[in-house]
Amino acid sequence: MKIGAPKETYEGEARVALTPDSATQISKLGHTCLVESGAGERAGFTDDAYRQAGVEVVDGTEELWSRADVIVKVRPPTEDEAGRLGPDKTLISFFYPGQNEEMLNRVRDTGASVVAMDMVPRISRAQKMDALSSMANIAGYRAVIEAGNNFGRFFTGQVTAAGKVPPAKVLVIGAGVAGLSAIGTSVSLGAVVRAFDVRPEVAEQIESMGAEFLMLEFDEDQSGEGGYAKPASPEFIEKEMALFRQQAPEVDIVITTALIPGRPAPKLWPEEMVRLMKRGSVVVDLAAEQGGNCDLTVPGEKIVTDNGVTVVGYTDFPSRMATQSSTLYATNIRHMLTDLTPGKDGQIAHNMDDDVIRGATVAHGGEITFPPPKPKVQAIARAAPRAKPKELTPQERRAAELDTFRKATRFQVGILVAGALLMLIVGAFAPASFMSHFIVFVLACFVGFQVIWNVSHALHTPLMAVTNAISGIIIIGALLQIGSTSFLVILLASVSILIASINIVGGFLVTRRMLAMFEKS
Ligand code: NAI
Repeated sequence: MKIGAPKETYEGEARVALTPDSATQISKLGHTCLVESGAGERAGFTDDAYRQAGVEVVDGTEELWSRADVIVKVRPPTEDEAGRLGPDKTLISFFYPGQNEEMLNRVRDTGASVVAMDMVPRISRAQKMDALSSMANIAGYRAVIEAGNNFGRFFTGQVTAAGKVPPAKVLVIGAGVAGLSAIGTSVSLGAVVRAFDVRPEVAEQIESMGAEFLMLEFDEDQSGEGGYAKPASPEFIEKEMALFRQQAPEVDIVITTALIPGRPAPKLWPEEMVRLMKRGSVVVDLAAEQGGNCDLTVPGEKIVTDNGVTVVGYTDFPSRMATQSSTLYATNIRHMLTDLTPGKDGQIAHNMDDDVIRGATVAHGGEITFPPPKPKVQAIARAAPRAKPKELTPQERRAAELDTFRKATRFQVGILVAGALLMLIVGAFAPASFMSHFIVFVLACFVGFQVIWNVSHALHTPLMAVTNAISGIIIIGALLQIGSTSFLVILLASVSILIASINIVGGFLVTRRMLAMFEKS
């Protein structure tokens, strides 16, 4: 069949649904590819690059839509585009059927099959087709870059000759795909990152990325179906607001991504929070298109408030990275076509018994097939909620401590008894001169072990090792001399021991302070 990608008509849209690479893969399924001339230009793919990949470049929208059997595009169809569909055509694009009822009726009347990329269920097998996640990943990354662009300081803390610069503090609200991507990007740039989500199961993911999960003590379970959240109760939102009120004066950058599918975005960063923020701070509201998580967000625009806070409400983050987003989106489409072409014979088989195809199809055979039935497979991204450790009473805690102490003492006494027995056995057979050296050796091992064991690994630098070895030699030399009859020798030996000890202990203290300078506050 012929797979065609038209030029996007939506104002400012730079993405394209077919790339030269994806076309090469699609042709292996037995299909031929067409692209409208100039469709990939803004995403960095020239007509020549398509031609080299064996794609036919056609002039004009009309020709593309009439010749292609399957139309792949990014934005939902416009009225004009829907008019070009027919019973023998398949459209694969974002569609948002929940918010687009009129268009849903319109495409049903054409008899075309419509696959909505935003309806791909979030199950493991469908991850490669999950265009919402691909785009949200890019949006999260770009949100951080945009925040950095509008923030007047470094993300990472630095110690320079001109002074110490504290790291930027970033708060990410909503740790879905976009949120986790924003967390990863901010952490990699060196910021101190905190995150909050109503679903407690994301805590581990947040912490594994190097951010702090802001805990809210609340019994209500906010996890909904399909890896999404369910609407929070007013009591929960009230507690959440109290948490954010504490954070607002502290954080420099806030990235909001909170969303419950099919609902307007919850207002989590009202004007009051913006007023609490420092001058120069930045809010990036990824939910701008669904009304925004911040009261002051103007969808599609960037504004600066009276108290000097920048609020970014762009709704086209993926399009601002068109090469990257087109590459990922075209790959998602290619995988969808692979599932639609099971025989790899260039024939589309629209199998409505397949969970993924059924879930994503919103119109088929002249009927509306939205909403789909629940997928039979459990959604991904839902780790088991962490069980809260049981709170111990003071008596139980004391008993547990005693138990640990007894076990440790038993172990140490065991070692001492075993050591003493070993000494006796060796002493029964070895000459006296060997025994005196052997006892010194065993004691040295014991003392050395006790001294070094609790020192943190970071303090064992090569420099420390060398200076400590030299100081150690000085101390041993002085100890050998300290039994002398001459007062002068005793004095010198004592001074040597004192100075070498100061060197060892002081070395550890100075190194500890130096390490503290590199720790994030
Ligand atoms: P998602 O559904 O995976 O994540 C949303 C997260 O918000 C979930 O983890 C949910 O538990 C959390 N959440 C819901 N209510 C909350 C509350 N009251 N407090 C804290 N967390 C709450 O969605 P995804 O894919 O990460 O997208 C996030 C947002 O980014 C969406 O609004 C999406 O439309 C938007 N987006 C914006 C783009 C742009 O260009 N501006 C591009 C792509 C996505």
